[in-house]
Amino acid sequence: MCGIIGIISREQVADRLVDALKRLEYRGYDSAGVATLEDGTLTRLRAEGKLVNLAARLADHPLKGTIGIGHTRWATHGAATEANAHPHATPRLAIVHNGIIENYRELRTELEAEGIVFESQTDTETVAHLVTRELERGQSPKDAVHTVLQRLEGAFSLGFLFNGNEDLLICARRGSPLAIGEGKGEMYLGSDAIALSPFTDDIRYLEEGDFAVLTHDSVSIFDEDGRPVTRPIRKSVGKAFYVDKGNHRHFMQKEIYEQPEVLSHTLGAFVDMSSGRTRIPDGQDLDFSKIRRIALSACGTGFYAALVGRYYFERFAGIPCDLDVASEFRYRESPLGDVDLALFVSQSGETADTLASLRYAKSQGLKTAAIVNVQESTIARESDFVLPTLAGPEIGVASTKAFTCQLMALAALAIRAGVDRGVITPERELELTRTLTEAPRLANEAIRLEEVIERLARDMATKSHALFLGRGFSYPLALEGALKLKEISYIHAEGYAAGELKHGPIALIDETMPVVVVAPHDRSFEKTISNVQEVAARGGEIILITDASGAASGAVEGAQMIVLPDMPEILTPIVYAIPLQLLAYHTAIQMGTDVDQPRNLAKSVTVE
Ligand code: F6R
Repeated sequence: MCGIIGIISREQVADRLVDALKRLEYRGYDSAGVATLEDGTLTRLRAEGKLVNLAARLADHPLKGTIGIGHTRWATHGAATEANAHPHATPRLAIVHNGIIENYRELRTELEAEGIVFESQTDTETVAHLVTRELERGQSPKDAVHTVLQRLEGAFSLGFLFNGNEDLLICARRGSPLAIGEGKGEMYLGSDAIALSPFTDDIRYLEEGDFAVLTHDSVSIFDEDGRPVTRPIRKSVGKAFYVDKGNHRHFMQKEIYEQPEVLSHTLGAFVDMSSGRTRIPDGQDLDFSKIRRIALSACGTGFYAALVGRYYFERFAGIPCDLDVASEFRYRESPLGDVDLALFVSQSGETADTLASLRYAKSQGLKTAAIVNVQESTIARESDFVLPTLAGPEIGVASTKAFTCQLMALAALAIRAGVDRGVITPERELELTRTLTEAPRLANEAIRLEEVIERLARDMATKSHALFLGRGFSYPLALEGALKLKEISYIHAEGYAAGELKHGPIALIDETMPVVVVAPHDRSFEKTISNVQEVAARGGEIILITDASGAASGAVEGAQMIVLPDMPEILTPIVYAIPLQLLAYHTAIQMGTDVDQPRNLAKSVTVE
C-alpha cells in the first residue's frame, strides 16, 4: 500500500504535495518523492526513508512548478532505495502508483527486447515506458493511458504528469482507491479524501476501471471502455475523522472493497516481490526448520482463519497443527509436548481469551508468534514474533478485510515453512508466491459479483435459517460464511463440513432451508457435489459458490450460482470469502439491521 497525490494549480505545489503526503504516510514510508513541471519541464526529487528526508532535500533544492505529483512508498517490487522510489519518469512523463501490476515481468521483457533500459526494479516503471511508447507512436496522453490500462493486470491506482503540459494530470483506478478533489481553478487526485482534506471537501471517487483527465478547470471521467461517465461529488468528512466511508454506505462495505489493496499490502510484508521469495517481516528470525508441531489458537473469525492456516501448514509445509478456540485452549491444560510454536491470530490484538492463551503458552515455555492487525496491541507486544496483517483500521464490527489478510499471511508463512523444512523447492516457492500475487485481482473480480449476490440476498432475507457447506479448504469458509450471516443479519446459520451433512443436519433440509455451498472445482469438488445432490433430492434451495469449471460441469441442476474465475487452490479461501461477506452484507441490508454495529457485539472483546 502506497500513497499517491497530484495537484494542478496556478500556485506553487511542492510544499502542498509534501503536506498531503504527510497525511498519507500511514500507507507506507519506505521512500517518498515528488515531480513537478518547472517552466514546463519535468523535474523530480526523491529520497529514501521517511518523508522528513524528502522534506529536507526539498528545503535544500526547492522544486518550482504549479503542477505536480507525489508518492509515499511501501516497498513491494524492489528494495526501499532512491532508485526504486516514485515518481518514475521517462523524458515524456512521470508516474506514481499504488498497488501491484501482476503481469509486469512479461511487459518488462517485451520492452527490454525493444531496447528500453530500466532504472529501477519496480513494476511501476513498466507502465511509464508503456505509456511513453504510445505517446511516441502519436497517441494523445488520454488515449495512450487508456491503451496501456487495457494491457495491465492487477489491482492498482496510477497518477500521470506529462512533460511540457501544465494543464493536464491523468489518473486511473482498478482495485485500489482514488479520490479526485475539486477546488477553485485547481484539481487534486489522492489515495484518499484525507490527503485532500486541507484543499477541498468536494470529492469524487473513481469507480472500478475508471480513469480521469484533470485540467485546472475540468474533470472528465471515463469508464474502462473509454466512455464518458459521471461520478457524483460528495462532501468528505476527512477533516473530522481519520477514516471515512468514502462513497460506501457502511464501513463493512468499504472494508470489503478495500481487500484487493490491503491483500497486496499484506502480501508485500511476507514476500519480496522482486525476487518472489517469502520472508518473515522485519527480518525476524522465525525459522521453521526445527518446528515439529504448531498449536494454533484464536477466536471467532480469527479461529476460522487459523483453521485455514492448519490446512496450509499441513499441505505446504508438512507440519502437523493443533487448533483450539482460545477460550478452550487457555483452560484445557493440554500437554504441549512436541509443540514448538504457539501461533495466535487476532485482528485487534486485545481479545481476552487469545491473550490469556498466549500467556499460558509462554508459561509453558513455548515460543509464541501472533498474526495481528493492530501493531501496538498487547498481543503484538507480548509475542516473541509479530506477524503483521496490513489490513488498516477495521471499523465494521464484522471482520472482513482482516480475515482475508490473515489468510494471506498464513498462506505465505506456510510456504516459508515449507521452504525452511525443505518440503518446497525454490522453484515451487516462486510458483506459489506468483500465485499469491493474483489474489488482489481475483478479489476485485469477486467484488464485481456484488449485483448478482445482492439479488440472492433478497431471497435469503426472507429465511429464518441457513446452512453453509464446504470441504477441505472450503470447510472453514462455510463456518465463516455462517458466522458473517448470523452476526449481522441475525438469521440463524450453521456451517458444516459437507461430508458431515448426512450425519445429522440433513434432517433439517426442506424447501424452506437455503444451503450455501462453497465448492471451487478442486480435489474435493466431486465429493461436495454428491453431498449437494443429497440436499437437492430433499427439496433444499441451493446457492452454489463455485468457479467457471465448476459451473460448466453442470453438476447441480436448479442451483443458484455465484461463479468466480478458476484459480489455484491456495487462493480459494481468500477469494471465496468475499461472496460470503457480500451475501451477509446485502442480506443484513434487506433486514434493516445495524450492519456496522450489530446488536450485542463489540469490535474488541477484552473480557472473558
Ligand atoms: C466476527 C468477528 C469476531 C472476531 C473475534 C476475535 O466477524 O469479528 O468473531 O473475529 O472477536 O477478534 P480478534 O481477531 O480481534 O481477536
